[in-house]
Amino acid sequence: GAPAKVDISKLEPGAMLTAEWRGKPVYVVRRTEEVLGMLEGLADRLKDPANGNKDQQPVYADNLQRSREPELLVLLGVCTHLGCAPKFFAEVKPEPFDADWQGGFFCPCHGSRFDMSGRVFNGSPAGDNLLVPPYMVEDNILIIGI
Ligand code: FES
Repeated sequence: GAPAKVDISKLEPGAMLTAEWRGKPVYVVRRTEEVLGMLEGLADRLKDPANGNKDQQPVYADNLQRSREPELLVLLGVCTHLGCAPKFFAEVKPEPFDADWQGGFFCPCHGSRFDMSGRVFNGSPAGDNLLVPPYMVEDNILIIGI
């Protein structure tokens, strides 16, 4: 299929937009410095620290931020449990929440929690991190599927 192109010039720090690629939602978040600074400290809360499905995603996602550029997060909005669309929680945490969870993505179907890199938290029914699709950015245009 053709790549999807999305203008991200108006995406504010801390905000998310939803794009679509191959009929699936793609979540695009411009993370703040504060959020990026939290990622390392969450390591012992992760269920899939080694990115078990890394063969299904680009090599440039195999880092702490799981992205090409640290601030820009691009994820498939498809829960790795049974495929629901997780909801984005930049600051507000849904109940019941794990006290250690600092926000990110919460799946309303069975309660899986993912951080602001799409990494799945211990105690979630999902076993794998949210997938990163192939993408690149050119002049504030995000191109997904390239
Ligand atoms: Fe997301 Fe089950 S589909 S937790």
